[in-house]
Amino acid sequence: MGTGSGFGKVILFGEHFVVYGVPGIVSAIDATNDAEVKKTAKGINVKDVRKAAKGYAEEKRMQQLESIDRILRAMGIDAKTVAFDILLGGALPGFSGLGASAASSVAITRAIAQEFGVILTDERVNQIAYEAEKAYAGTPSGIDNTAATFGGLLWFKKNLKDRQNTIEKLHIREPVEIVIGSTGVVANTKAMVEGVTERKQKHPEKYDALFEQAEALALIGREALLQFDLKKVGKLMNDNHRLLQEIEVSHEKLDILVEIARKQGAFGAKLTGGGGGGCMVALTPNQELQERVAEAIENAGYEVLRTRIGAEKT
Ligand code: MEV
Repeated sequence: MGTGSGFGKVILFGEHFVVYGVPGIVSAIDATNDAEVKKTAKGINVKDVRKAAKGYAEEKRMQQLESIDRILRAMGIDAKTVAFDILLGGALPGFSGLGASAASSVAITRAIAQEFGVILTDERVNQIAYEAEKAYAGTPSGIDNTAATFGGLLWFKKNLKDRQNTIEKLHIREPVEIVIGSTGVVANTKAMVEGVTERKQKHPEKYDALFEQAEALALIGREALLQFDLKKVGKLMNDNHRLLQEIEVSHEKLDILVEIARKQGAFGAKLTGGGGGGCMVALTPNQELQERVAEAIENAGYEVLRTRIGAEKT
C-alpha cells in the first residue's frame, strides 16, 4: 500500500490577485488530507471519508475524478493499464477555501508514487499537483498546491511566463493562533476565478488600481509579519478583505463571520481562498482571544477550526 499527505492552508494575503502574478502569502495549517492507495484487479475507485461541508463531496466529485486523471497523465501512467483503490481521509475538512483539493491531490500523488515504486522529489509532486489543481480551479496560480506540498509560511509569486514561480519560506518569531470560520457554503473555485477574469476585462481601470493595492498589501504584510507586528498584519488583512469585496468574491456569510471576529477583538479578519462561500480567517494571537472568537462564531451557528499560522514544521 502507498500512503501520502498534503497540508491544508490559509491565504493571508493575495487570493485571486496571485492568479495574475501579484505576490501572495500563504500558511500551511496543522491539518492534512491523507491518502492510501492500493493496487487492485479492476478500475480506479475513490472512497472519500473526509469530514466536509454539506454537498462538498457531490460538488467536487467530477473535478476529483478529472484531477486523478490529470495526476496519472502528469506521472506518465496510462489510466487504462492500472487499477487501484484510493482511500482519502485526514483531519483537514472539506470546507471550501482551505486548499483541500490541493492537499488531496498532493496526498494522492504521493500515495500513487509509493504504491507504484516511483520516486518523486517535492518539486515534482508540486508540479503534478498543479496539473491536478487545473481540474478544480481552471487557471490556478499554484499557491494552494505549493503550500500543500511544502508546508510552512510562504511568500508566493506566480511567474506568468511559465517559468519557475517564486517560492520563499518566511520565518516568524513564533506561530500565531488563528480561527477559521466556515460559512458552510460550498464554492466553485473555477467559477470564482472566471468571474474575476470577466470583470477585470470589463473594468480594466478599476481592476488595475485594485491589483496595485493588492500588491502593496502583500509587500507591507510581509514586512509586518517578519517584524512580528501583528496589529499591523491584522489591519492589512482587513484591507485585503475590502479589496476582495470590491472584486466581488465575498459572500454575505463571509462578511458576517468577518464582523463577528472583529467585534470579539480579532486583530484582523478576511475571507480566505476562492470566496463565494467557503471560509474566513481571523488573526487571534493568544489562546484566550482565539477561544473568544471561536466561541462567538460557533454560537452564531457556524463551524470553526482553531489552528495556527507560521509553524515551522506544520
Ligand atoms: C484559492 O485558494 C486561491 C485562488 O487565488 C485560486 C488560485 O490562486 O489558484 C482563488
